Formats: sequence, C-alpha cells, structure tokens
Amino acid sequence: MDVLKIRGGKPLQGTIQAAGAKNAMTKLLVASLLSDKKCTFYNVPNIGDVEITLNLCREIGSEIKWDKKNKTLEIVTHELKTSYVPQRYSGSNRIPILMIGALLGRTDQDIIVPTIGGDLIGARPVDLHIHALQKLGARIEYREMKKEGAYFAQAHHGLKGSIISLNYPSVGATENTILAAVRAKGTTLIKNAAIEPEIIDLILFLQKLGANIMVDVDRTICIQQANRFHEVEHTVMADRNEVASYAMAAIATKGRVFVEGAEHLHMIAFLNKLREIGGGFHVKKNGIEFYFEEEIRGGLHLETDVHPGFMTDWQQPFVVLLTQAKGVSVIHETVYENRFGYTQMLKEMGADIELFTQCLGGKSCRFASSDHHHSLVVKGPTPLKAKDISIPDLRAGFAYVMAALLTAEISTISNVEFLDRGYEDLVGKLVSLGADISRVHLPRKSPDKSKAALHQLVAKSAEVDIPLPTV
Ligand code: EPU
Repeated sequence: MDVLKIRGGKPLQGTIQAAGAKNAMTKLLVASLLSDKKCTFYNVPNIGDVEITLNLCREIGSEIKWDKKNKTLEIVTHELKTSYVPQRYSGSNRIPILMIGALLGRTDQDIIVPTIGGDLIGARPVDLHIHALQKLGARIEYREMKKEGAYFAQAHHGLKGSIISLNYPSVGATENTILAAVRAKGTTLIKNAAIEPEIIDLILFLQKLGANIMVDVDRTICIQQANRFHEVEHTVMADRNEVASYAMAAIATKGRVFVEGAEHLHMIAFLNKLREIGGGFHVKKNGIEFYFEEEIRGGLHLETDVHPGFMTDWQQPFVVLLTQAKGVSVIHETVYENRFGYTQMLKEMGADIELFTQCLGGKSCRFASSDHHHSLVVKGPTPLKAKDISIPDLRAGFAYVMAALLTAEISTISNVEFLDRGYEDLVGKLVSLGADISRVHLPRKSPDKSKAALHQLVAKSAEVDIPLPTV
C-alpha cells in the first residue's frame, strides 16, 4: 500500500507541463478499434486509466507500442482475436461499456463486456447507452454471471442509422452512440448530445479515421456511415481537469504556477469563476499562468453543469479553494447526485461546510425532489488541520491533496491508486513546484474497507436501479 505524506504551508511555484486528457485518451483508444488501420497518438498521458484501457484493447487483439518518454503511442487492431472482454476487468473503469459501441460495428459476432466501475459519485446507470445502441439495431442484455454481471451484445445483421434523443446529455452515452454510428448504415442523429471538448477531440480523431460527423449549435450530432478508413495521427488535447487542479492548488497556496500546454478554449467557465473570486491568471502563447493576486473572495454561487457549464470534476478542489475565501459561497452540483461525500473529511480538517438536499441556486435540477445532498454552503476563510485521509475517488483525492498542502503539519493520504488513475506523475509535478510531498510504500495491514463501505452508502442512498432492457 502506498501513501502520500504531505507537509503543507508552502506556496506552489514554477512550471509544469499539462498531460494529455484522461477522458479523451481512453475513448480515442476505444475508437481506434473501429478500423484495422494504425493510429498514432501524441501527448499520451502515463496514467492508470490508459494502462487499463490498453489492457482491454490487447485482450481483443490490439498491438500496441508505447514510447512513454516521448508520450507517443501506436495502436493497430488488424483483426479481432475475440469480442469477449474478460470478466476480471469488471469494475475497472468506465471504458468497457464503450467497447460495445466500437465492437458492434467491427464484428457480427457476440460481444461480452464486463460491468463498469469508475468513481462512486452517484448511481451512474448506463440506460441511455443501452437504449441508444438498441435504437441502432443492437440486441443487448445484462446477465448475472457467477460473481459479477456482464453485458451481452450483438448486431448479427449490422447496425442501421437512426434518430436518438438523449433525455440528458450524457458524455458516455453520446460517445458510445457516436462510436456505433460510425459503422451503422446511413445517417445517425443524436439529439441533446453532450458536446464536451473531449467529445470534440473524439470527433476530430474519427474524421481523420474516415467518418463524416457534424455538430450543430443545438446539441445535435450527425454521423454518416464511414466506408473507408485511414491511418491516423492525433495529438491528444490537454487535460482540463489537471490544468484546473494545479490552478486551484497554486492560488490556494498563494503561489504562481505556469501550466504549459493548457488550452484557453477549454477553460472558459473555470476562468470566469476564478476571476469572480479574485484568482489571478494570465493566458500566454503556450499555456496559462495561475497566481495568487489578492485575498480570495467568497460570495460565489456556482452550479456545475454539462459543457459549456462549470465542470463537475472541478467542483471538489474548488470547494477546498472556497474554504480559504472570505465570505459565504453556495455550490449546486447538478451532474451527480452524490458528489459531496468528501466534504465530511474537509469538515474534520476544519472547513465550515453545510450540505442541503434542496437545489440552492438558480435552477431546479434532476435531483430536486430526491433526498440527495447536492447543494452546499461553504464559509471561509478557515484554517485547515492535517489529518490521515483515505481517498474515496479521483477528484476528491486531488481536493484532499490540496487541503493537505494548506496545513502546516503532516497529513498521510491513502488509497493513492485513485490518483494514479488520472494524474500523471502527481508527486513529481508537485515536488517540482516546491511542495513537501513524498510517496511511501507501507506493508498493507488489513484490507481497506473504505471503498466497500462507500459502495454500500452510494447504493443505499442512490436507490436507482439500472433499468435493464430485455432482448
Ligand atoms: N447518466 C444516466 N444514464 C446514463 C448515463 C449517464 O442517468 O446512461 C447520468 C449519470 O448518472 C450522471 C450524468 O448522467 O448523473 C452524467 O453522466 P455522464 O454519462 O455524462 O458521465 P460519464 O460519461 O460516466 C464522464 C467522465 C467523468 C465526468 C462526466 C461528466 C469519463 C471516463 N468520465 O463520465 O469524469 O465527471 O463525464 O463530465 O469520461 C473524472 O474524470 O473524475 C470523472 C468522473
């Protein structure tokens, strides 16, 4: 078991290079499965979720060369060795379900993918994925296996383009539908689609691969069947979650960090909120510099939303930043119903945070009549005390690292594997910015029950069944 030891109190100063985006790279790898042509990627992040996705691709026949030093990766899947993804990947991350969309177009054989994992921040059903793929002509069913369930899918007679209306612009469901539609006969329209920058990056890749895809101003994405595929070279977009994470850590610690490669276009909503509370930034030719300029002001009302709104993944570290702001701020989380669990530890560290089940703010969201705590009020500034902390999910993990960087004593942070999934060389980057942080290997004494406990909590509080369609 590895833990992080952090002694806070130092401002972060210096320059780091933004990594390629986790939530783009993993989907691009799945998209490469659509053809038998070689795809070369640049700016590939060296993170756990990419490793997991590569293993999934290898299982079904991809050949991969990854030059980690140069962040370059080649992948080619001349032919599918199998269309069964082994059950041992069950719960690994969110990617297996997306393989259905890519594989349905590549094979008329049966496809089996394990259940998906990912952060425990809500029920995260996959009903929209399944309904969309069914609309394209796939037969999909969920079956209980010995230990875990799996999705069985097939389109023995091929897929056919259709009009699909999503009742919520889900990122994953949009991606899955686009992937399947690339090889579906004719034209597919996705209405109320997600248009996150990572989806646009996927579309750019698919256009190079051979697809014709249009994105309309009203969230409609139109995909025409691709008949010819080409080799592709693609530079993965910068990780806007990583950029924002270091930006917030720089300002909270009263430092100055230049994030080389940060792309202004993807940070608009974040920069607006940063400016509202007095955070400094300077957009330069090849990145963005973030700096502490004046005392951070509270009095903010912030609602997370789908793009182009304020990303839900920025919410957790932003709340840590607001614990250092003077005044009262309100956060309304509208994307996930259960993304405030991490605040309990912040409270134990000294933060003044109160949770509410009501929608506090401008609009009523999907969780208005539920009893999920999805709004909070944070009062600041409050000094934070060091603690021994167990990470429950990826972004909460960074929020805790940031909180620990604000305390004068030593905090010990466990469940570091969550951070490995999404933050490239976290310790190296923070050390280069002057942080007092180290990674220590400890022999595991007893199984960490926090994950299992959290699982139960989420299941109990969410009480949302995955609607499983029958074939
Ligand atoms: N939803 C449904 N039914 C579905 C799909 C989604 O009800 O079939 C709901 C979810 O329960 C959730 C909301 O729709 O309440 C948004 O889910 P979405 O499908 O958009 O998210 P995702 O594809 O599962 C990706 C990122 C998340 C990020 C969200 C929102 C990846 C691997 N994950 O998840 O990233 O928060 O989009 O932008 O791309 C992270 O990187 O830390 C992370 C959690």
